[in-house]
Amino acid sequence: MQAPILVTGGTGTLGRHVVPLLRAAGHPVRVLSRRGGAPGDGVTHVTADLLADSDLEPAVRGAATVLHLAGGAKGDDRATANLVRAARRADVTHLVHVSVIGADRVPLAWLRSKHDAERAVADSGLPWTVLRAAQFHDLVLTMLTTMTKLPMVPVPGGLRLQPVDAAEVAARLVDLTLGAPAGLVPDLAGPATHGLDELLAGYLAATGRRRLRLPVRLPGRAGRVYREGANLARPGATRGVRTWDEFLAGRLRSGAGQP
Ligand SMILES: NC(=O)c1ccc[n+]([C@@H]2O[C@H](COP(=O)([O-])OP(=O)(O)OC[C@H]3O[C@@H](n4cnc5c(N)ncnc54)[C@H](OP(=O)(O)O)[C@@H]3O)[C@@H](O)[C@H]2O)c1
Repeated sequence: MQAPILVTGGTGTLGRHVVPLLRAAGHPVRVLSRRGGAPGDGVTHVTADLLADSDLEPAVRGAATVLHLAGGAKGDDRATANLVRAARRADVTHLVHVSVIGADRVPLAWLRSKHDAERAVADSGLPWTVLRAAQFHDLVLTMLTTMTKLPMVPVPGGLRLQPVDAAEVAARLVDLTLGAPAGLVPDLAGPATHGLDELLAGYLAATGRRRLRLPVRLPGRAGRVYREGANLARPGATRGVRTWDEFLAGRLRSGAGQP
């Protein structure tokens, strides 16, 4: 029987794109998450909390390849260290992980934790691949929707983003997962770089609203490195194709992006 590929976080934004692609490539998939999901053709679910469960080995056992997507607002370093421990005991032969562009450069707690998670993978002694991706279009839309709930919107000056389509990140991760372990591969960012002010203005225009915009300066070292572009893809990065404008138009047409 063919070994399943374990996908942690396979029920999330990215995971929902990844799982059907792995199935289409002919692989059985085991999804790990806290809440689980309905089994489908060739897809099984295990429930486990990567942060709390002391023994994750049964969830990993029998999977030669692990694609680690599960992540949250905090604790990704600990969650990844726990997964790595179980993967080592289960003789995993390829551990693939998705991180965030700037994890190694932006001094914010959640990015430090992503960087520590990368290190846990690289130091695992297992063959590994890590892809750093830019913010997904979905996240940028959530961010803009939340920001524009207020009548007056603070806009950090000099903050730029390179939103990328989650489906394109998923396709790249599936190629990497089915390929040979490759270490740290080139970043994957969207096709264009946008100022946050520009994204906000475009979103307000597209949703037919006005908001008072209040320019603010991001404080401290994190503010400085953001203004310097430490969250942007390095030269040599892979760039996605689907633009933010195309994504937003699609969401607004379907009604899903309406405030
Ligand atoms: N969103 C972005 O813009 C972006 C950009 C670059 C990289 N990334 C990285 O891509 C990965 C996936 O992001 P996403 O946007 O798809 O996230 P998401 O939509 O929030 O999904 C997170 C997934 O992880 C699972 N999960 C969370 N905490 C868990 C835990 N402690 N134990 C087990 N499962 C857990 C969730 O299921 P349950 O809640 O049921 O456990 C869900 O399946 C993350 O590592 C993130 O850092 C995201």
